[in-house]
Parts: sequence; structure tokens; C-alpha cells
Amino acid sequence: MTDLPAILGGSPAFPEGVPFTRPTLPPWETLAPQFEAMYRSGNLTKGPHQRRFEARMEEYLQVPHVVAVSSCTSGLMLGVQSLGLEGEVIVPSYSFMATFHALRWCHLKPVFVDCEPDTLTVDVEAVRAALTPRTVGVMAVSLFGNPPDWPALEALCAAKGLALFSDSAHGLGTLLHDKPLGGWGSFEVFSLSPTKLLPAAEGGLVATREERVATWVRSGRDYGNPGSYDCEFAGLNARMSELHALLGLAGVENLDSYAAHRNRVAEVYHAELGGLPGIRFQKIREGVRSSYKDFPILVDPEAFGIDRDHLGRALQAEGIPTRAYFFPAGHEQTAYADLPQVHLPHTERLSRQVLCLPIASHMDLEEVRRVAWALRRIHARVADVKVSG
Ligand SMILES: Cc1ncc(COP(=O)(O)O)c(C=O)c1O
Repeated sequence: MTDLPAILGGSPAFPEGVPFTRPTLPPWETLAPQFEAMYRSGNLTKGPHQRRFEARMEEYLQVPHVVAVSSCTSGLMLGVQSLGLEGEVIVPSYSFMATFHALRWCHLKPVFVDCEPDTLTVDVEAVRAALTPRTVGVMAVSLFGNPPDWPALEALCAAKGLALFSDSAHGLGTLLHDKPLGGWGSFEVFSLSPTKLLPAAEGGLVATREERVATWVRSGRDYGNPGSYDCEFAGLNARMSELHALLGLAGVENLDSYAAHRNRVAEVYHAELGGLPGIRFQKIREGVRSSYKDFPILVDPEAFGIDRDHLGRALQAEGIPTRAYFFPAGHEQTAYADLPQVHLPHTERLSRQVLCLPIASHMDLEEVRRVAWALRRIHARVADVKVSG
């Protein structure tokens, strides 16, 4: 293997390519008999496995109510709807589109605020500064597995009488002082899509301590039909099928070992890339074991020599796909162009500097070292790479 990066004509670090991520699934042998029994029973949805999965997750997350839904997005929509809010909701702009869309679907006005430059989670002082007489709630996000400053958010919202809830799509596998997320605010919603630690193909879990929220979401995932066909409100079809529930159930037992492995991957990336000029890492909050749903690096173009997008292209040439999460940020998206324009310096910089590297719950550590080696090789020839365009 030469020292020449692939973008300059060297041979790629991964001639066959390495996946950006891969779902880690339970062994087929354990699932096959359960799938077959479910299939033969004809009970494909609204069957017993959905409730079994919910009960298992109530135990795992240590919360009184978990409601399984078809996606994190639908869970967020129904959770927000359950609160019956009208007005402005403060939300970090540095997040995935589904965060803000849930507010829009519920006719709430998102008020975008900045994030902390190191943890990448919502800046509580920015939330405080954005409060107006029309503010009715705050929506937090656990970003890449790093939770926001929950005690500070809860104290602020309690003092001001505001609703508080969370998009915790990335949060399964995270521990805060040795306890899973799920019990903060009025509700938290987790995602079970294939890029997450507990993949159920598609799906979401609404975790809440509030019975009222759980009852609303249970009815809302079934059109808002209490059983009499006299709907109490306009719900959705957001049910979780039995197939999805079985897949989720089978994965729960391994969730902690998946998170532990991702932390090992993160340690290798830290060790191998830590000294590179212009590369920084997300700061994980004190007392947290992150799920590392993603592994972001922050690329300072001046110090590193090329910008994030250029590095992404050079890594792609090595057979290493990356993701520029989250660009554009929420306040820069066309869907929100009708809102008053705001300037959020940290968010705008991060959305142009963050590059997520490959990670998976069973990623071979040699592959991780090779990704890091390819990145260092690019940096060693960064002046030539820069002129390569
Ligand atoms: C922060 C965040 N929120 C919400 C979602 C949407 O999750 P789902 O695809 O399960 O609806 C995602 C998806 O990755 C996400 O990253």
C-alpha cells in the first residue's frame, strides 16, 4: 500500500468499499421459528408481540409507559399532539428534519436556537434567551447519542410553566448516570430504523411517565379510534406490525453490548485521529455512556487544510462513505423559509464542519483503524489533495 491517497491515484484503502453503517441483527435461527409462528397465526398486526415488546422496553428503560409506533417521526407527531399546545416551541436547529416536522404537523411554530459548540446539544442559555410570551414548550434532542443538559432544561421549563419533550431518536443505548434515557420531560421518542442500535426495520417507541400521553398515543396510532369508531381526535395509522415487534424484541438483549462495542470503536477513532490538526470530536457529557449512533468528527478547514466536503470526497475515493449530518440545518431549510430569519453561528459552522465516519455495532476494529489510517494518509498529502479540487 503506497502513501498516496486514492484521490491522488493511490490504491483505495477499501477496494470493495466499507459500509457507512450496517444493522446488527439477532441470529436468524432465533427469529425464524417466531416469524413462522406469527405468519401462520395470521396475526400480523395488533397482536401480542407489540405489547410484549412494549412491556420489555418499559422494564429496560425503567419507565411506566412505552407505546410502540411505526416510526420515531409518527411517535413525535402523536406525542406533540397529545400535549394540546398552541404557540411557539423552542427547538435546536442542529438536528434531523423529523424533529421540526413534528412541530409543523401539529401547527406549532418552531423557534430555532443554537447548540453548544462542543456537546452539539441544545444550549440552555440560548433557550432562555429565546423565550417570549408565546413560548409554550421546549423540544430537546439527544444528538448522536449525547443527551442535552436534562436537569437544566427541566428546571427552566418547570420555572416557566413550559412543556418539555424530546426527540431521542439516537438515544437507545445511551446511559446517563448508568440509567437509560426515556424518563425525561413529558415524553421521549426513540427510533428503531436500521441505522440505530435496536433496528426493527422501521419503528419508534414513545416512552413516558405520563399516563395521559401514553393513552393519547395508543389511541392516536390507531386513527384516534377508541374502539367505537367514534374518533375522539384525528389520529394516524402508526401501529407497529408484529413482524417489527418480533425483530425489536429479539434485539433488546444485545442493546448494551452493541453500545459497549460502539464505545470501543469511538475509542479507536479517538486514539488514531486525536493528534491530527483541525480534527475535533463531540464532547460527551459528564456521566454519559453515549450510544454513538454516529461518530462525528469536526473538520476545521484552516487547520486541517481542506474542508469537510473535500475530505468527504477524498474518503469516498478510498471506499469510505461518510455523511454530512446535519446540512442544511433546520433554520436553513426551504420548508422553514417562511419563519423569521435567524443567525445561529455554532449551528451554521457545525453543519458545515461535521463529518460522520463509518460505525456499526459489530464493526471490526481493524476496519476502524484502516479508516483512520486512510484519513491520516489524506492529511499527510493535504496540500496536493487541496489542489486536486
Ligand atoms: C434526530 C432524529 N429524529 C428523528 C428521526 C426519524 O426517525 P424515524 O426514521 O424512525 O422516523 C431521525 C432519523 O434518523 C433522527 O436522526
